[in-house]
Amino acid sequence: MAKTILDIQGLRKTYGIHEVLKGVDCAVQEGEVISIIGSSGSGKTTLLRCINMLEEFQGGTISLDGEEIGYRAEGATRRRKSEKEIARQRALTGMAFQQFNLFPHMSAAENVMLGLVKVKKMTKPDARAIAEKWLDRVGLSARANHYPGQLSGGQQQRVAIARAIAMSPRLMLFDEVTSALDPELVGEVLQVIKGLAADGMTMLLVTHEMRFAYDVSSRVIFMNQGVICEEGDPKDMFVHPKTERLAEFLKTSSFN
Ligand SMILES: Nc1ncnc2c1ncn2[C@@H]1O[C@H](COP(=O)(O)OP(=O)(O)OP(=O)(O)O)[C@@H](O)[C@H]1O
Ligand SMILES: [Mg+2]
Repeated sequence: MAKTILDIQGLRKTYGIHEVLKGVDCAVQEGEVISIIGSSGSGKTTLLRCINMLEEFQGGTISLDGEEIGYRAEGATRRRKSEKEIARQRALTGMAFQQFNLFPHMSAAENVMLGLVKVKKMTKPDARAIAEKWLDRVGLSARANHYPGQLSGGQQQRVAIARAIAMSPRLMLFDEVTSALDPELVGEVLQVIKGLAADGMTMLLVTHEMRFAYDVSSRVIFMNQGVICEEGDPKDMFVHPKTERLAEFLKTSSFN
């Protein structure tokens, strides 16, 4: 039986008085590729940011490999774990964003090496070897010594993905990684993600690329107003949506 990597129960997140996640339950098995779809403001980014501990949350639990992340229960209440502990847990997930967030004064290889040296305490030659391996995997072996400013958007995004994957995360989180790209550069990034999926990487990806979600996902989650409104096999869901909400969403989305 597949192993549960991520287990989210009753996740609640508020910004001030605004409740953005209203009780999200979700379990992810090893090797699953899950696309998260839903209209703007439905809470997709917030969900990923909670998993990666970039946001605090007010209720529910998130467990990774059976270990509760961010907080520890203390009787009826809970206490936030130490920053050191949270940093260790954060390294269990890799995240790539719409904005690539590469350091402009570092080469592609140096960007990938940084976390390996600083967080994983590797020697530079070891980190360099891993960086080169992953840059090769994303089709950028010839660009290892280029600076972000010398790379196209699609290439920069592939460096950002290589940087996250090089840390050997248990789970990869992608948040609209193709949204900032010119249309002709979208394909090369999706191709890299497809390759990772084929290798068995467990991932959660927020995407507006409905055709891609349809093609690569083992499961699709449709979020609406802070809850999971519908989920299932994309081959089924996109053709026979069960809820009116999803039917409406699909009508206005790029899937056809
Ligand atoms: N830092 C913040 N402070 C206050 N409200 C926020 C903050 N970040 C997000 N929100 C609100 O939380 C809700 C969910 O936002 P979120 O970014 O998770 O949506 P999303 O589904 O990712 O949307 P999109 O498709 O536009 O990226 C929105 O109503 C948003 O305005
Ligand atoms: Mg978002």
